[in-house]
Amino acid sequence: MDIFLDNAATSFPKPLAVPDAIYDYIVNNGGTSGRGSYEKAILADGLVYQTRKSLAKLFNHDDPKTVVFTSSVTESLNLALKGILKPGDHVVTSSLEHNAVWRCLKTLERDQGIHITVVPATEQGETDIKDVAAAITPTTKMIVFTHASNVLGTIQPIAEIGALARKKNILFLVDAAQTAGVIPIDVQEQNIDLLAFTGHKSLLGPMGTGGLIVNCDANIDPLISGGTGGDSAYEYQPDYYPNHLEAGTMNVSGIIGLGAALAFLEAEGLETIRHKEDTLMDYALNALSEVPGIEIYGPRDSSKTVGVIPFNIEDHVPEEIAFYLDQECHVMIRSGLHCAPSV
Ligand SMILES: Cc1ncc(COP(=O)(O)O)c(C=O)c1O
Repeated sequence: MDIFLDNAATSFPKPLAVPDAIYDYIVNNGGTSGRGSYEKAILADGLVYQTRKSLAKLFNHDDPKTVVFTSSVTESLNLALKGILKPGDHVVTSSLEHNAVWRCLKTLERDQGIHITVVPATEQGETDIKDVAAAITPTTKMIVFTHASNVLGTIQPIAEIGALARKKNILFLVDAAQTAGVIPIDVQEQNIDLLAFTGHKSLLGPMGTGGLIVNCDANIDPLISGGTGGDSAYEYQPDYYPNHLEAGTMNVSGIIGLGAALAFLEAEGLETIRHKEDTLMDYALNALSEVPGIEIYGPRDSSKTVGVIPFNIEDHVPEEIAFYLDQECHVMIRSGLHCAPSV
């Protein structure tokens, strides 16, 4: 039997309702969204809007129109960072960021002259809110934080950082790649201005789906310009949402698949999913700690982490362990730097 343990990269298997919904749309509908006025196009449009509504509900966002679809959380983060930050702006971030944030910030630092302050974390990946407060300067425009480290699993104090950002009138961008679909997120209560998420990890949807929840009135420049299906004679990108930040034919099949995944998540309940993940984590942490020569990193307390357990085994390089597990045991794990080299 194959055992897939690479869910931090992408979740597998998906609920069967996901491929079923995609198949049904491609075979029986096939219309684009926001363009045609024939019945099938309107039906496709309705299904896309339903996914926006489900996402708004999941994250307690009050306006589905400002749920912007992208192709990935990487694109969502680029959109928020490149669309908002201007030369001279200061940004506070964590030392746990994935390259989706880090490379984008470094590029803006080199090409646009933004300034970055990195908040240190403990060896367990824990952040002290006092360090975040100390990093803020009069020119801080944004705080960008991962909700949970994809390397150590450690969940970050998002609600406290959100409250601090709100008090200081600083934009707060959260990378929810590792948490959306497994840890409850409330953009209003947690004062999250911009929430970047991906569809293909714990939201259980297909690859090529993701989005940005815009819970603020910040001016965001689009990453791309192009057709939106409406106001075609107007020569610039419209300034109303979601069209302001969505150009080109959408990934309708993927978004419909994501909609089916969200219905599955709602029926299961995040609490049930999180409870199962906690149980599996406790089991795995106990069992792994008996392996001779193993060193496990990050918190040993499943309530402080998402379902990620990083480890090394004495005298073996990680790639060797991953290769052995795959070839001899049909267990699929990830080895390497996990796109977050500073961690
Ligand atoms: C914390 C975090 N941010 C961003 C990403 C990038 O995700 P994607 O490649 O789906 O855009 C990942 C993926 O591993 C991640 O774990």
